[in-house]
Amino acid sequence: MRVLFVCLGNICRSPTAEGVLRHKLREAGLAGYVEVDSAGTGDWHVGKAPDERTCQAAQRRGYDLSALRARQVVAADFQRFDLVLAMDQNNLRDLQQLQPGSAVAELDLFLRRYQLSLDEVPDPYYGGEEGFEQVLDLLEQACDALLIELRGRL
Ligand code: 4NP
Repeated sequence: MRVLFVCLGNICRSPTAEGVLRHKLREAGLAGYVEVDSAGTGDWHVGKAPDERTCQAAQRRGYDLSALRARQVVAADFQRFDLVLAMDQNNLRDLQQLQPGSAVAELDLFLRRYQLSLDEVPDPYYGGEEGFEQVLDLLEQACDALLIELRGRL
């Protein structure tokens, strides 16, 4: 199974989702069975490490995002991945535009797929510290639900 998380910049929400899912897969002994990546719909931060506030908030909960580097999503990702999970409705719309007719991947809104308290992961970039904690709270819950789905599909 191959899972791709997508947000706007690939420096806050989707790298956090990648780090959280990788961590949960390792704990579950499933790291060798699921490939995880993240990308942004925009190209402003390509090649950059995740946002410093994102890294620090993740580190406090035991997730190390320091090795991750931003990249932009490409149409070929729809052939390479089984699941492409968008963080918000804008990301989903941009991905629907990019999605080729021959897509293999299933495209979905990450939180809505698992009927969590919100449909979207709010963009924390221009807000305060609490936004980064909320991103982690939502993504930890959603990754728990995704892990259950992945176990069933492996
Ligand atoms: P992300 O957050 O989509 O969660 O990585 C953002 C990062 C950068 C910008 C916007 C959102 N930006 O406008 O540069």
